[in-house]
Amino acid sequence: MKVIIARDYKELSKKASSILASQLILKPESVLGLATGSTPIGTYEELIKLHKQGVISFSSVTTFNLDEYYGLDSNNPNSYSYFMRDKLFNHIDIDNNRVHIPNGLTKDIQKECQAYEKKIIGKGGIDIQLLGIGRNGHIGFNEPDIKFEAITHLVNLDTDTIYANARFFKDVKGVPKKAISMGIKTIMNSKKILLLASGEEKAQIVYDTLYGKITPETPASVLQLHPNLIVIVDKQAAKYL
Ligand code: PGA
Repeated sequence: MKVIIARDYKELSKKASSILASQLILKPESVLGLATGSTPIGTYEELIKLHKQGVISFSSVTTFNLDEYYGLDSNNPNSYSYFMRDKLFNHIDIDNNRVHIPNGLTKDIQKECQAYEKKIIGKGGIDIQLLGIGRNGHIGFNEPDIKFEAITHLVNLDTDTIYANARFFKDVKGVPKKAISMGIKTIMNSKKILLLASGEEKAQIVYDTLYGKITPETPASVLQLHPNLIVIVDKQAAKYL
């Protein structure tokens, strides 16, 4: 694994966007795995800047997002579909037909999950998967004690995740309790993984993820086994490294 320690969040975002931009320049038809949450917002801002400067184009890119809340429709401002349009897709030249996010309103979860996996495989797999990390070690919505061999599936959100994400909702009661998420196996099948973490509240989990025991209790710890993992952390998140 390659660990990059950035001075601060801004430098982290610039470094992450450079890696993604070089991926697009070298392979314009790349398949990107994308993430939501606070951490990648700066990276998306930098990518938008590079696009507006004419450095990169998303016109041939395909994207798959990690997850979506179950029960929220794509126009709900708390849905990850809305988040992605707001933070990235509305500002770049991506073809909406090549954007994929699990349908949180699906009536047939099994079918939705299987179709999502099939589409990823049909596109030749994910070239680079961007990841944030939860304080409890989740990646996507793969919460502690998940099965490493799981593919896209319906998950129950951990209490810690529900409280962490309540900041985006009116109150904690409004946070959905379930989500559709790529599984650990889906994520591990990506050709390259770019894990980002910022701030002191992530310092312990970053240490446990990179140097602790590989265990489903810390879902992200499985990333130690990925052959092509790049980790970018800012100084605060790198406190114990
Ligand atoms: P955050 O979330 O980027 O908002 O900290 C990360 C995650 O929960 O995966």
